[in-house]
Amino acid sequence: MTDDSVNTDDIRNGRTLRSRAWFDDPSNADMTALYLERYMNFGISLEELQSGKPIIGIAQSGSDLSPCNRHHLVLAERVREGIREAGGIAIEFPVHPIQETGKRPTAGLDRNLSYLGLVEILFGYPLDGVVLTIGCDKTTPAALMAAATVNMPAIALSVGPMLNGWHKGERTGSGTIVWKARELLAAGEIDYQGFIKLVASSAPSTGYCNTMGTATTMNSLTEALGMSLPGSAAIPAPYRDRQEAAYRTGRQIVEMVHADRKPSDIMTREAFVNAIRVNSAIGGSTNAPIHINAIARHMGVELKIEDWESEGRKVPLLVNLQPAGEYLGEDYYRAGGVPAVIAQLMGQGLIHENALTVNGRSIGDNCRDATIEDERVIHPFDDALRPDAGFSVLHGNLFDSAIMKLSVISDEFRERFLSDPDDPWAFEGRVVVFDGPEDYHARIDDPALDVDERTLLIMRGAGPVGYPGAAEVVNMRPPAKLLKMGIHALPCMGDGRQSGTSGSPSILNASPEAAAGGGLALLRTGDRIRIDLNKGEANMLVSDEELDRRRKELEAAGGFAYPGSQTPWQEMQRGVTGQMGTGAVLEPAVKYQ
Ligand code: FES
Ligand code: MG
Repeated sequence: MTDDSVNTDDIRNGRTLRSRAWFDDPSNADMTALYLERYMNFGISLEELQSGKPIIGIAQSGSDLSPCNRHHLVLAERVREGIREAGGIAIEFPVHPIQETGKRPTAGLDRNLSYLGLVEILFGYPLDGVVLTIGCDKTTPAALMAAATVNMPAIALSVGPMLNGWHKGERTGSGTIVWKARELLAAGEIDYQGFIKLVASSAPSTGYCNTMGTATTMNSLTEALGMSLPGSAAIPAPYRDRQEAAYRTGRQIVEMVHADRKPSDIMTREAFVNAIRVNSAIGGSTNAPIHINAIARHMGVELKIEDWESEGRKVPLLVNLQPAGEYLGEDYYRAGGVPAVIAQLMGQGLIHENALTVNGRSIGDNCRDATIEDERVIHPFDDALRPDAGFSVLHGNLFDSAIMKLSVISDEFRERFLSDPDDPWAFEGRVVVFDGPEDYHARIDDPALDVDERTLLIMRGAGPVGYPGAAEVVNMRPPAKLLKMGIHALPCMGDGRQSGTSGSPSILNASPEAAAGGGLALLRTGDRIRIDLNKGEANMLVSDEELDRRRKELEAAGGFAYPGSQTPWQEMQRGVTGQMGTGAVLEPAVKYQ
């Protein structure tokens, strides 16, 4: 953490804070009186509301329904103290809760809903700046997307990861342990009670997932984008430093309002490229491209899915966190966190050093002197864990875009599928197709299912339209009969997402999805497909004539079938969502900038 002194003296240079239109507008006495009396009714005084001090919102994402972010209820007290001490007035309000693991059918639905709600709040209420409390997977992009749309001074405060989980002397990482426990259960090595105990050991305290899942990824990338204080993302939730970061964040936002430092000053194209590179170095989640591209679209910054390959693929893996590595959140923080990673990339000229951050300094100035404190956890650039750790972006007759996380391809997997010495990045295989997660669960252990160690598992009907919000279901465990033979992974491909805590090298986020006219809808069990990770191609080896015939047949049957909506929002979102390759945003919202 840097100790930036907050300048409260150079107030406003004649600029009128937007909250004055509510609380101090003599030309509109009627409304001013109405606003004032109601905001006074819980004890804020008239002098405070008319003092000309910035009104700072604290967008509270924590609640009992959102355990990952719940600690923000405590941290908000320190945020308030920072705001007050720097000369601002804090107003805390709830945002739509999103709990990744608790929301049915998928929290993917709620990111855009939370975004919409927060935009309305920031636009419609007397706020001059906002502290975005972030943490669990989608709470982070929802908040940054809204800040981008409204473009008022905003700073993010991560809630921090949980403490490390332990079981029998080994680190158990949230989410990641579930995939392992499932295999043990399917293979009959543990029972139901043992399964639950093993999984629960990974969550020993308040905070978000302690693995490099989507939460740690998005909180790290928020810092890399410049939207949170340097060094703040990785601090575990229960640590005292986390409380201190909350206090400093409160102070900083008041300074940002005076300086009129807005998201558009910070989240530039350069900042997004920095985020892509950091994502490769940390072994970030496959959800990152969806969320980062969504933030960029609302910010009006040109960022394409192909940028993830051209800017990020060649960056090596430096951070040794599960699922790509061994360690967890506490270790990441002690090893130096995001600034140590950025300093390593800066040494190779891989960071746009002049990108501005919330504290008014450049990312280069913030991170230049950061050192690695434990080289087992954060590797120096010249001793990277793996080369080329970014995403491969694929296209072909199956989809226009899909991604594959190269840093999680295991040696076992490489041996089985990428062992052709003439063509080490290509593989070919027969597919088994599942229409949605329910179909997969119903059939995967059916003895009649024709699947062997060379089969590719396909999940379709799981995209933003087909399974509203896009389900995290593409990483599918092999059938129990193969697990018992020691086959732990089959290649998986699909139009859904997968949890960032999964170490599966799936090809996912396929756009367009089957339900939106994508080629996956034409694929049939028994077809062969060919993947070439070097050329970035994924094709079904089916003739154009045959594909034409299938397309006509599908159209005659009324198109790709998917389950109906269960709630009003599911139906509304289905009508306006884009595909994952372009961020799966609410398309009509993009023009509001
Ligand atoms: Fe909330 Fe992982 S489930 S951070
Ligand atoms: Mg997730």
